[in-house]
Amino acid sequence: MKLITAIIRPDRLGMVKEALFRVGVTGISLSKVSGHGGEKEIIEHYRGTQVRMEFHEKVHLQIAVSEPFVDVTVNAILQSARTGEVGDGKIFVQPLERVIRIRTGEQDSDALTPVNQPETTAQALKKRS
Ligand SMILES: Nc1ncnc2c1ncn2[C@@H]1O[C@H](COP(=O)(O)OP(=O)(O)OP(=O)(O)O)[C@@H](O)[C@H]1O
Ligand SMILES: [Mg+2]
Repeated sequence: MKLITAIIRPDRLGMVKEALFRVGVTGISLSKVSGHGGEKEIIEHYRGTQVRMEFHEKVHLQIAVSEPFVDVTVNAILQSARTGEVGDGKIFVQPLERVIRIRTGEQDSDALTPVNQPETTAQALKKRS
C-alpha cells in the first residue's frame, strides 16, 4: 500500500478528479494549501541580495491505494494535471503501513477496496424497513 500525495494547480482539480474517477480511484482527501516550488526569486538590493519566496495557491490531494493502483493513480494525475509550464506541482509516493475502515474494522487492502454502492443502498433500505 502507498500514500500518494499530489500537489496540483487548483484549476486542474476538475480534470484530475475526473481522471481518478475513470481509473476507479474515489477515496481522496483534499485540502487547499499555499506552496512554493524549486524556483528562486532573488531581488537585488543596494546592500546585498535578498531571497523572496512567493507562496501560490495549490490543491493538496492524498490518496491511499493498494499496490495495483499505484502506477494507475500516478499516471492519471500526470496526464490530467500537466500543462507543461512551471508550477504544475509534484507527486510524492510513500509506503503506507496500515489502513482501517472504521465502519467494518476491515484492514489494509480490504479497507481500500471501493464500497459496493448498490449493496450499501440495499443494506440501508433493509435496515430502515
Ligand atoms: N520539495 C517539495 N516539498 C514539498 N512541497 C513541494 C516541494 N516542491 C513543490 N512542492 C509543492 O508543490 C507546489 C508546486 O511546485 P512546483 O510545481 O512549482 O515544483 P517545482 O519543483 O518548482 O517544479 P516546476 O519547475 O515545474 O515549477 C508548490 O507550491 C508546493 O506546494
Ligand atoms: Mg516551480
